[in-house]
Amino acid sequence: MKKILERIEEELKESFAACGYEERFGKAVLSNRPDLCEYQCNGAMAAAKAYKKKPIDIAGQVVEKLKGSPAFSLCEAVMPGFINLTLDEGFVAEYMNQMAEDGRLGLEKAKEPQTIVVDYGGANVAKPLHIGHLRSAVIGESIKRMGQALGHHMIGDVHLGDWGLQMGLIIEELRDRKPDLPYFQEGFAGEYPEEAPFTISELEEIYPAASRKAKFKPEEGREAGMSQEEIQAKEKESEAFAHRAHLATRRLQEGYPPFLAIWNHIMRVSKADLEKNYGNLAVSFDLWKGESDAQKYIPDLIKDLEQQGLAYESQGALVVDIGEPGDSKELPPCIVRKSDGAALYATSDLGTIIEREKDLHPDAYIYIADKRQELHFTQVFRVAKKAGFVSKDMPMSFLGFGTMNGKDGKPFKTRDGGVMRLEQLIGDINEAVYQRIMENRTVSEDEARGTAKLVGLAALKYGDLSNQAAKDYIFDIDRFISFEGNTGPYILYTIVRITSILSKYQELGGREAEGVILPAGSEAEKGLMLQISRYQEAMEAAFVERAPHKICQYIYELSNEFNRFYHNTKILGEEDKGKQRSFIRLIALAKDVLNACIQVLGFEAPERM
Ligand code: ARG
Repeated sequence: MKKILERIEEELKESFAACGYEERFGKAVLSNRPDLCEYQCNGAMAAAKAYKKKPIDIAGQVVEKLKGSPAFSLCEAVMPGFINLTLDEGFVAEYMNQMAEDGRLGLEKAKEPQTIVVDYGGANVAKPLHIGHLRSAVIGESIKRMGQALGHHMIGDVHLGDWGLQMGLIIEELRDRKPDLPYFQEGFAGEYPEEAPFTISELEEIYPAASRKAKFKPEEGREAGMSQEEIQAKEKESEAFAHRAHLATRRLQEGYPPFLAIWNHIMRVSKADLEKNYGNLAVSFDLWKGESDAQKYIPDLIKDLEQQGLAYESQGALVVDIGEPGDSKELPPCIVRKSDGAALYATSDLGTIIEREKDLHPDAYIYIADKRQELHFTQVFRVAKKAGFVSKDMPMSFLGFGTMNGKDGKPFKTRDGGVMRLEQLIGDINEAVYQRIMENRTVSEDEARGTAKLVGLAALKYGDLSNQAAKDYIFDIDRFISFEGNTGPYILYTIVRITSILSKYQELGGREAEGVILPAGSEAEKGLMLQISRYQEAMEAAFVERAPHKICQYIYELSNEFNRFYHNTKILGEEDKGKQRSFIRLIALAKDVLNACIQVLGFEAPERM
């Protein structure tokens, strides 16, 4: 369906043309004086310059022509040359009926669907999922779903960090704990066991322990009351362990079979756990690829960069310059190989691009990661284009997000100052919502638990997505779970309220959503219709700008409009049956639009709450 704004502009363009002016002046925007009108056109001002006339004269002429249009109940030319527009109730009602009839609520599919890779999640295998990864998962999932809603072929790839030092740390820690395992027997010739030498909870404990062991700090020893000698001995031990971990990482990366076998165990155990965690967030990926998958492309890509004369030696490392004439500051070159030959983050990303080009042929790439990785992505994108790994005009965008802070304005921590684990965070939110639901205890404990899960997820995701992604935000559990204000639970509450009216209506013998939506009879009703009519605009703008917060803004306003209408109108008490059917159909449409939007944000509404 055409957007309501397009319909308005069609009328404007026709009138401009009929008065002998170019059509392009017939642009409309939302009114910035909602007390005076709903939309406005500022085109007469621009036309005045082109035609050397007074803006108000042009506006007056256009308004005369517009008077015959079925779209407007009021159009006025006001000084210095604005055209104020108020939509006709019948025209808006007709638009509502078309949306209600259309299986997609009027949302058009892209005429040329694109294949778009969304790189998000980015968990690091065997390290606990912490809230830094929350944002990437939540934002990425929403962008992927927006694209899908608009008919694009979105491919979500989790791009695991699965090829780094954590693997060497785990291998060496495992050797210290279980030296008898066959992986550590030189010359072992048998089959390696099928079963992993650890469970997920052991694995989760092994990595932090190994990481601490490799980074012993003398202060810690002093605090623990160690003697100077003990501290020195411990430091030596720590260094030796770190060295072993580096070596083990290198051997793994070179394909040493026993370490590859351990690596496979780590991957299997860890992936299963990640899937569960992402599942709890209603986040799912089409591809579970990782840095390790990129490795086989690296030797050739480095050769290619060298042959093209792009890569050169600098202080023992191999680098590619990425500076471009328009840069406001000098950007450091991209390091593609370190002096010790080890694999690098940027090189893995380049290898991944080569693989994606080969396997997926994308039309565009979107990466979602912490905004502190901006330089990294600039380097990777520029090298990829310079070297022709992707076409020069390939849209590659990096969506960098800010930090989630606690109420003290510092990165969010647990009560004892540790890194907050995602599972715990979700648990805390669900518990808080559960308590709130139980305060007015109208449902069973079981139902309250189930509802708390849905509402908790909405609180968490909406709390995140309603902020512009690049901004830091404050994680405020009390505010996020509030049923009032710009929150997820408020949106759900609105949907649940509509559900409840619809089922009462059915209990009273009415049938849901039939009949015709009639022209609005009140200002509140019209306000609700106008907001519903902007659904397609909101979705498209949010996708083009990669801005889920625009959908949040849209449904917040839609919920406000619905609630205003609800408080103004007797719906179930309406005696005129035709009017009542129209109300019911309208609020059912509002509910469908709200549901479609929260689906894209990645959460859903309970039946009641
Ligand atoms: N694993 C990375 C991290 O934890 C994020 C990965 C982002 N995606 C990418 N293609 N580099 O920081």
